[in-house]
Amino acid sequence: MNHFDRLRELIDNCYAPYSKFRVASIAVLEDDRTYGGVNVESVAYPTTMCAERNAIFHSVTEGAKPGDIAEVHILAVNGEGECVKAYPCGACRQVIAELSRNAAKIHIYRSREDVTVHSIADLLPHAFDSLE
Ligand code: THU
Repeated sequence: MNHFDRLRELIDNCYAPYSKFRVASIAVLEDDRTYGGVNVESVAYPTTMCAERNAIFHSVTEGAKPGDIAEVHILAVNGEGECVKAYPCGACRQVIAELSRNAAKIHIYRSREDVTVHSIADLLPHAFDSLE
């Protein structure tokens, strides 16, 4: 199954009763393994977790190491049921940057054919990557 079709499936699993904004994501590792994630909201709003971080944390749970993330695919559906291009939030960009290489590609869909691709280095230049 291609990544867009899988994202369409995952969108049904989002838990977004407050914002009604559903996001699905797939983390693709360098060895082509894939891990899905969806946004999960909470009535205690700040405890919400984004789809992208859920996908990446899913991959880490299954053994992914820093540098293993090759691609992150994102599909979002707004409250009107329309697919919209949603760029990853700042927190997700930081997590992607830490666990991928600079060349890792972020694929942002509006449809199967309408997809924008950026490297993580484009989306988060001068990333913080060290405690030194
Ligand atoms: N959201 C994501 O899942 N990914 C992002 O990069 C930005 C926002 C979710 C969080 C919340 O459930 C909803 O979208 C509206 O902000």
